[in-house]
Amino acid sequence: MDHFNYLDGQLHAEQVPLSRIAAEVGTPVYVYSSATLTRHFLQFRQALDWTDHLICFAVKANSNLAVLKLLGDLGAGMDVVSGGEYARARAAGVPGGRIVFSGVGKTRAEMRQVIEGGIRQVNVESEPELEALSDVATTLGASVPVAVRVNPDVDARTHAKIATGKSENKFGIPIARAREVYALAAKLPGLQVVGIDMHIGSQLTDLEPYRQAYGKMADLCRTLRGDGHAIMRLDMGGGLGIPYRRDNAAPPLPIEYGQVIRETVGDLGCEIEIEPGRNIVGNAGILLSGVVFLKRGEGRDFLILDAAMNDLIRPAMYDAHHDIVPVTQRDVGALVSPVDVVGPVCETGDTFARGAELPALAAGELVAFRSAGAYGAVMASEYNSRPLVPEVLVAGDRYAVIRPRPSIEEMLARDVIPEWL
Ligand code: LLP
Repeated sequence: MDHFNYLDGQLHAEQVPLSRIAAEVGTPVYVYSSATLTRHFLQFRQALDWTDHLICFAVKANSNLAVLKLLGDLGAGMDVVSGGEYARARAAGVPGGRIVFSGVGKTRAEMRQVIEGGIRQVNVESEPELEALSDVATTLGASVPVAVRVNPDVDARTHAKIATGKSENKFGIPIARAREVYALAAKLPGLQVVGIDMHIGSQLTDLEPYRQAYGKMADLCRTLRGDGHAIMRLDMGGGLGIPYRRDNAAPPLPIEYGQVIRETVGDLGCEIEIEPGRNIVGNAGILLSGVVFLKRGEGRDFLILDAAMNDLIRPAMYDAHHDIVPVTQRDVGALVSPVDVVGPVCETGDTFARGAELPALAAGELVAFRSAGAYGAVMASEYNSRPLVPEVLVAGDRYAVIRPRPSIEEMLARDVIPEWL
């Protein structure tokens, strides 16, 4: 459930008409709902209320400071994958003690940054990383809590580009080698082994891969404890999918996911960490766009929008589907006809949907891409020198621009022409 609904025939974000935001901020623009963000976060909290836990929002899904602050104020921790994300989480007021640092290629500079700034735990993905972290920590006279990311070799049954838990993926340590890697971690100075980490993929719509992976994690936890490691935390990763199509069977709910965690690892007495991104913010955001032209082609019509692949790359990159709806509601049974929905960028890949069944839309009308709050704005670029898409946060009948659209002058001012040219 989200808070983007039609009121008096006009699509609203909570109580704010999207047409008002379009008129005042311009399009394209991302619009987020605070009530939906809060609701989704509280669903995870409820799903884990049977145990000590920390919900670490995956900052990569949406890193706007206002979004991070809203979640941080609710008690969320953060899962970050770069020094930049760490700095964002801290700037949003989240203490280092609630931040976990993940990723396969952390640099020494990033390690130093998080150790000096304070970190709950570093999720380490390889032996060379363990050694580098130990080195940086000892130089700083610190002891860093670590979990090793273990690759359980299960098929997450999701899009190949976002599956991470198979042995052929670059992520984590093969589970078969986990004991030797933990032995190395335990003997390196400056590291304190505290847990096990896993993340098997994103947009999972089936709980079975989780059940398999977490079962393996439980076995590993017992083995490692037998080896003398004090495993106190289990980081279960993120990845729970969201409904992208209104008419499809909905993926499992956080409460059902929490139940799988309880059934697989609940008896180990560990603190549970999860790293959901998409499930919290995906359906809390839409991309609002205006129709530029309707172009009649040969055998197909093109709805040309002012949003493009640089604003929302998921359809071009993953063949992802986003429901596209008119902002002015149509009567039930209104005539629909197939159109290709495209952006103005000079590539055929700049296509949002082929043959989408949409009602007639005229130039100047508004449409909304649903489920665009996760991996939308964060993956946007200025390709074709299109200004970075702005973001707006709604709360009840108020809204605020939480990232303004840069002017063309600001964009040009970032480049430097060397004096010798
Ligand atoms: N934890 C780790 C270690 C991750 O790599 C990810 C996502 C998450 C948590 C959060 O997963 P989520 O709950 O959001 O599914 N750009 C792609 C998604 C890439 C996901 C990468 N890792 C997309 O637009 O679908």
